[in-house]
Amino acid sequence: MDLRAVQAAFPIRARRVYLNNAAIAPASVPVIAAMDRFLADVRDHGDGHYLDWCRHADDVIKPKLAALVGARPDEIAFIKNTTEGLLQVANGLDWRDGDNVLVPDIEYPSNVYCWMNLARRGVGIRWIPSRDGRILVEDIAALIDARTRVVTLSAVQFSNGFRQDLQRTAELCRDRGVLLNVDGIQWVGALDLDLTRCPVDFLSAGGHKWLLGPIGTGFFFCRRAALDRLRPPNIGYHSVAKDADHLDYDLVFRPDAGRFEEALVNFPGLWGLEAAVDMVHELAPRRIEAHVLALGEILIEGVLARGYTVVSSRRPGERSGIVSFRHPARPSEEVYARLQSARVDVALCVGALRASPSVHNDAGDVQALLDALP
Ligand SMILES: Cc1ncc(COP(=O)(O)O)c(C=O)c1O
Repeated sequence: MDLRAVQAAFPIRARRVYLNNAAIAPASVPVIAAMDRFLADVRDHGDGHYLDWCRHADDVIKPKLAALVGARPDEIAFIKNTTEGLLQVANGLDWRDGDNVLVPDIEYPSNVYCWMNLARRGVGIRWIPSRDGRILVEDIAALIDARTRVVTLSAVQFSNGFRQDLQRTAELCRDRGVLLNVDGIQWVGALDLDLTRCPVDFLSAGGHKWLLGPIGTGFFFCRRAALDRLRPPNIGYHSVAKDADHLDYDLVFRPDAGRFEEALVNFPGLWGLEAAVDMVHELAPRRIEAHVLALGEILIEGVLARGYTVVSSRRPGERSGIVSFRHPARPSEEVYARLQSARVDVALCVGALRASPSVHNDAGDVQALLDALP
């Protein structure tokens, strides 16, 4: 699949210069077609193919998601959004009064409130101080103490695109006997990841950003070795091993990460997610990473040449699909309005403009943004 074929799959290109993929990816033709196919099946057969859907979801879609990140299919659970995956960990661990969790002080709120909510169980937050928008492994190491159970952080920060050194962070946590929980939504689909080499314990990613899938989809990775560290907080008929016999009540969990799916999953959305993930596989995560980083570089050079300040870190290994910038004098709201009137979509985020070019974008899109800047 080449760039042209990808671009043809995104009708939004005829209407907008869409550089806001870190918010919500535009729906592509194959994603919509796959969801339509599923719904047509329900229209024509009702429940008739239910067992086929379950098998397809577990035996086809999970392996495709797992292969994206170097996981095993039995380490994957479907979730409706990233936040749900973070909640599985926050609410699933056997906390003791006085435990603590390390959280960066610039996290997306999904990865803050679920930990704040544990105060009533005696769990405290130790804030990892960001340094100019960066989260340093050394700071994490210094904050871990005897009562630290979890380090939880975004692989890529939502506001400025800072890319965590996941490898070193994961090795630190493993060596100190602390669980590492990762909000992966701004990483997965944009940047390559191999969890066979990177000892992350839990990772959650919604499907609607860099994975190019529909809203209401996503996956939770629970490493096999960490499965029994969590008690699924939401338990239903789908969490248990004997899920076929509804009156033989037997609270024995499924042997895999499927235990975190309490009931019926979002099949229509998952069919769309599968189509999107097929595209990501065909393009290959490594090529996608090179593409988004290259577009980001053009953008950075361009905004700097126009007198803007780049908020995102440009240090080696710290860039991602997100480039945030602002004008030293003009309010970002004014710049944002100017881009909107030129039909260029970026996000206004924490006082800066946040651009996030994806696989369906090209250098011409970045140039259109630069041309529209005041
Ligand atoms: C880093 C990060 N985490 C979580 C979320 C929320 O994702 P979801 O709606 O899938 O829970 C976002 C959305 O912008 C995000 O950027």
